[in-house]
Amino acid sequence: MRQWLDLGDVPTETIERLLRVAKELEARPIRQDLAGKVLGLIFLNPSVRTLASFQAGMAQLGGSSFVITPGQGSWAFETRRGVTMEGLEAEHVREGIPVLASYADALGVRCFPRGVDLAEDLSEPTLRALVNVCPKPYLNLESALSHPCQALADWKSLDDFGVPRSQGKFVLSWAKHPKALPLAVPASTLQMAAQRGMQVTVLRPEEFALPAQVMDKARTLAQVSGGSVHETSDREEAMQGAHVLYAKSWQAPRFYGQPAEESVVRAQYPDWCVDESWFAPALPDALFMHCLPVRRNVVVKDEILDGPRSRVLPQAANRLHAQKALLLEMLS
Ligand code: CP
Repeated sequence: MRQWLDLGDVPTETIERLLRVAKELEARPIRQDLAGKVLGLIFLNPSVRTLASFQAGMAQLGGSSFVITPGQGSWAFETRRGVTMEGLEAEHVREGIPVLASYADALGVRCFPRGVDLAEDLSEPTLRALVNVCPKPYLNLESALSHPCQALADWKSLDDFGVPRSQGKFVLSWAKHPKALPLAVPASTLQMAAQRGMQVTVLRPEEFALPAQVMDKARTLAQVSGGSVHETSDREEAMQGAHVLYAKSWQAPRFYGQPAEESVVRAQYPDWCVDESWFAPALPDALFMHCLPVRRNVVVKDEILDGPRSRVLPQAANRLHAQKALLLEMLS
């Protein structure tokens, strides 16, 4: 595999193979398969887990990595074609990416969307610009619409937690947040659960309905896997018999690129902070998941994060195991 761009584009058999290897790596973490190999990690946007887990993963497999954070420890990178570079960006990805690729066996890049024009971001212009100039294997560490590393790790977590596939009821819920956040994690989470064959419900206020392109891809994946995808604003209905509540905030697509208007809409939903009352219609041992970072008592109450439902820590730990399987697949 030379490109890891979106989990929904990866055949389920390949995902199953990666998850089997991830399990083996979890049991026996230290290997030398990637001795002498170098992974370049380029973070156009901040990270804790993705950065740390890829560096740790390469080290545990006998390889090494370097990290570039354009605009912080190095020149800011321009990603758009045809611009006159008189701004802060001193280097274009058309030079920067091939140069860094010449020092590495693969590149992983995080590139958030511009957040100005929804149609533009849905077509992933920055991701395409980066992939097009990368001559080495490319790993998407989160783009406008996709966080495939998180989704692969979340699939493993669901398997580890014993959540059933075809009969498993998975609720992806919008939650409140002080900022308008990107669509990558909700899109990838929804599509992962659909591809895993689960009964998926997206719970959100009307204004936060995910774009048709995102919902349609999830429905297509569910058709193949035997799962289903629904959406509702009714919390009681969504949580009925749920195995898992996966919370995540995202910006209102209807007000994309209009931060002032969007924040007014977001402020209308102060009770979308997950607490124990949300779980009343769910299965008694229903679980709580979140990709992290999470704002305590904004997205979810302490009582959930510190209580028996929360699986956020093993969920984050699985980033390491899942990504090591991916590194073996792409680099060995
Ligand atoms: N979940 C996730 O990708 O975490 P980071 O943003 O810290 O990498």
